[in-house]
Amino acid sequence: MNMSNLLIIRHARQIVHVCNKSESMLRGKEMAHVAVTESSNGLSLVVGDDGCIKDFGEDAELEAKYRQCAFQKEIDASGKAILPGLVDGHTHPVWVGDRVHEFAMKLAGATYMDVHKAGGGIHFTVDHVQKATEEELCSSLLERLKRMVKSGTTLVEAKSGYGLNAESEVKMLKALEKAKECFKDIEISSTYCGAHAIPRGKSMEEATNDVINIQIPKIKELNDSKELSVENIDVFCEKGVFDTDASERILQAGKEIGLAINFHGDELHPMNSGELGAKLDARAISHLEEVSDEGIQAMSRKSVVAVILPTTAYILRLKPPPVRKMIEAGVAVALGSDFNPNAFCLSMPLTMHLACVILRMSMNEALAAATINAAASLGRSQTHGSIEVGKVADMIVVDAPRWEHLIYQMGSHNELIKYVIKNGRVVHSS
Ligand code: NIG
Ligand code: FE
Repeated sequence: MNMSNLLIIRHARQIVHVCNKSESMLRGKEMAHVAVTESSNGLSLVVGDDGCIKDFGEDAELEAKYRQCAFQKEIDASGKAILPGLVDGHTHPVWVGDRVHEFAMKLAGATYMDVHKAGGGIHFTVDHVQKATEEELCSSLLERLKRMVKSGTTLVEAKSGYGLNAESEVKMLKALEKAKECFKDIEISSTYCGAHAIPRGKSMEEATNDVINIQIPKIKELNDSKELSVENIDVFCEKGVFDTDASERILQAGKEIGLAINFHGDELHPMNSGELGAKLDARAISHLEEVSDEGIQAMSRKSVVAVILPTTAYILRLKPPPVRKMIEAGVAVALGSDFNPNAFCLSMPLTMHLACVILRMSMNEALAAATINAAASLGRSQTHGSIEVGKVADMIVVDAPRWEHLIYQMGSHNELIKYVIKNGRVVHSS
């Protein structure tokens, strides 16, 4: 038996696997059930020196099995629940210059597009990001990533999209790259979103051509030389931003350089984004407040993950996305915080809470959405998103006898999350 192991967690009340049959995602009604091992005698979990989950079971059984073994770290989880690390499927964390003033405008009745058309919104942030240095972007990014870790996130999707030209988009992606190098407490899946808005003074056609002919080739060059490790391509497919045809051209061009399609669609207006994503074999589509019934069916047929962002509908007082219809149709639903200067939320527990109350998801569905399905939206569900032997040991230990307290105790997640474990290493304790 291997003598060296990274970690043993003992005496837990629950181990919440989420799923335990190597499922790549939980579709539709499958999300209603999450796999849990429970014991009033205490449960233990062992992480091997490769940072992966090695074993779990009753305390007494593992005590006997691992008597001869050394552990670098032991955690007493008496009465607590072990869950997978949370996966945030959609964020915009690279920016400077907050938009608290716009929050006031929106509270007074302005819509997202009113603010956007008045030169605020994304454009306000673009102005600040274009002027910022890579170091400034990286330092604010790191602060946000640290706060995400404290809220239990161990894997996060992170977009560019406030540069809107090759130079500034690359600067944002390089800030993400630097964060990947110097901060290992969270894992980042980077997304190129150069088509997040039409730059001032350009037409949609000009912006589309710039993305396809200048920016995407640059991303390819830097990915090839390993200066960047961008995984996904995104576009804001929206009336007055990139229409469905332009979005298709951009996403196709990204796919041709090896990026996975993961885009903003059907947020404020119906754009046939569900149909488009299915046609292009997208891995995921975010928002979907205005998705059509046909779009839902197409996503289900092609196993396109729906990344739902309850903070957006909440803060903009939008009609919520039809999550129940999606689940009924067999779509795999994931969740993202949508952290951005419009929706300043770094917390997946709060996102799950909003998903339950506003979108009428059950707590089981919200947890599946914030773990295995969000991992699937990033192409990582074979390694992340559930507690199964052989998977990466990304976990949180919650100080409650039942895991549901993480959602139920609205806003108290920082007190409830006692440990955050990334690759078997404790990266946060409280
Ligand atoms: O997902 N809808 C487009 N993108 C973001 C908002 C970005 C911003 O307002 O800065 C979203 O909500
Ligand atoms: Fe977004």
